[in-house]
Amino acid sequence: MRIDIVSLFPDFVAQLAGHGVVGRALERGLLSLHGWNPRDYAEGSYRRVDDRPFGGGPGMVMLVDPLRACLAAARAADPAPARVSYLSPQGQRLTQARVRELAARERLILLCGRYEGIDERLVAAEVDEELSIGDYVLSGGELAAAVVIDAVARLQEGALNDAESAAQDSFGADAGDGPLLLDCPHYTRPVEHALGVVPSVLLSGNHAAIARWRRQQALGRTWLRRPDLIDRQALSAADRALLDA
Ligand code: ADE
Repeated sequence: MRIDIVSLFPDFVAQLAGHGVVGRALERGLLSLHGWNPRDYAEGSYRRVDDRPFGGGPGMVMLVDPLRACLAAARAADPAPARVSYLSPQGQRLTQARVRELAARERLILLCGRYEGIDERLVAAEVDEELSIGDYVLSGGELAAAVVIDAVARLQEGALNDAESAAQDSFGADAGDGPLLLDCPHYTRPVEHALGVVPSVLLSGNHAAIARWRRQQALGRTWLRRPDLIDRQALSAADRALLDA
């Protein structure tokens, strides 16, 4: 998968590349990241990318032309067609289902705004979708883009190591087509500690029983903490039985 990031802060892309699952996905050639700076497409000696808002008010608004030229260059860098996703609090909320859909695309172009926003005419003409990572306001789209990149990188086939993918496939927070569940509790050594004892099922060596316990914990936690994530009717009969047990 190819991801192009349009941002006034090109260093941001380099930062992402060095760590964790995103770094691994890049190393393994499962993902490529390309930064594009609208300032490089701005005219004049000041290379201006923003101006004051018509109608007054605080802050600056990003100009149409540098962004438009920058987006055109990003699009043209690869023959595969790409939709432009603008990170903004006005967007549709990112969910794991949406992440799965984004992760399946061949290309993403992530447009990061700064200041008070982007001239609406550019948004209307060039943006295919707006994505929000939550109901709060960040000072720019870069952190939101990082969230999208991390979430889609870990879904690229081969990005996770074996243990991570096994956890994801069987009972993890994102078991594919089922509901998104909160994760089950995890324990490591020692078995007995002043703060408590590890649940005995995890020491039993009975893989089916362990999987069942984990699924039950995940369902129970989600039911208690985030009932909005579970539609009881949509659960499988097996999950309903675990939840009721
Ligand atoms: N830019 C500023 N705030 C944002 C948010 N909550 N989600 C996505 N992009 C943003």
